[in-house]
Amino acid sequence: MSASHLPQRVKVVEVGPRDGLQNEKQPVPTAIKIALVDRLSAAGFANIEATSFVSPKWVPQMADGADVMAGIARRPGTIYSVLTPNMRGFEGAVAAKADEVVIFCAASEAFSQRNINCSIEESIARFEPVARAAKDAGLRLRGSISCALGCPYQGEVPVASVVDVVKRLAALGCDEIDIADTIGVGTPSRTREVMEACASVFPIERLSGHFHDTYGQATANIYAALLSGISIFHSSVAGLGGCPYAKGATGNVATEDVLYLLQGLGIETGIDLEAVVHTGDYISQAIGRPNASRVGRAMLAKMKDVAASA
Ligand code: HMG
Ligand code: MG
Repeated sequence: MSASHLPQRVKVVEVGPRDGLQNEKQPVPTAIKIALVDRLSAAGFANIEATSFVSPKWVPQMADGADVMAGIARRPGTIYSVLTPNMRGFEGAVAAKADEVVIFCAASEAFSQRNINCSIEESIARFEPVARAAKDAGLRLRGSISCALGCPYQGEVPVASVVDVVKRLAALGCDEIDIADTIGVGTPSRTREVMEACASVFPIERLSGHFHDTYGQATANIYAALLSGISIFHSSVAGLGGCPYAKGATGNVATEDVLYLLQGLGIETGIDLEAVVHTGDYISQAIGRPNASRVGRAMLAKMKDVAASA
């Protein structure tokens, strides 16, 4: 397929404050989480996944979700999303004035049990009231499908299982559905196969690619997904993260790397790459982690060189 088929504009959803930070063992102060979201808002993201309203017993790092939502400065036009596994989480999201709630399930039975302690079937049944309540409240509803390209417990995940979950989430009224490579095992040809199969049952402009970079394939997979017509991607500033229920999984693909790729392809995002690079530097230092973005590290080194020779 030629580059002329690439989308002209892409929505990059920043998930670092949630998917990135949820995996940090040491508690990250709420003020740092708020500063992170504010910097991302200022960089121009139209959609930021800000926090989760999940059980603090399962994910202690997200226990301050209400305080994060209360403390951030909302940029007009930006959608602030939160994860809501059940009605309790939904009520928290409404009280916090979230713009979008995210229900999350898996294409693999084994992962569903480990992540949300129930079968895929049970998880969909649990989401029904959440989905109904979201629609009644006029909130956007997003569905996320983990392990769409492979599972840490079950291995291979059939394309048909992913398509089946897409249909179920579509029936719940999801505005957007994420196809997530939770453990970053996918490769470009499999990515296209899965994306194109999902697009046969759900509008492609409302499907998104959520890639983790464990095997270093994420930007290649994004390029493959772009060629299939996907125009929404999730990423995490400085490549923050991992998954508490997928051992060895690295973070989401780094936002800086995705923006550099898109910029090189002439695709608009409305996001200021330099501001994101500085934000990646800020959060890496704040939580004492090496910056996992190659583009971030390269651009920071160049900025230091320029500053030193000025
Ligand atoms: P459970 O233990 O089966 O259910 O958890 P429960 O109802 O017995 O709840 C356990 C305790 O949590 C109870 O407290 C509840 O009250 C409390 P206790 O009575 O023992 O004192 N509780 C809550 N507290 C606050 N907010 C809530 C809430 N719900 C229950 N909303 C449950 C089931 C789904 C709640 C749990 O498994 C859970 O919260 N899981 C969250 C897991 C999670 O956040 N995983 C990471 C996000 S998914 C992800 O990262 C993948 C994604 O990025 C895509 C990809 O890359 O694949 C999206
Ligand atoms: Mg994830």
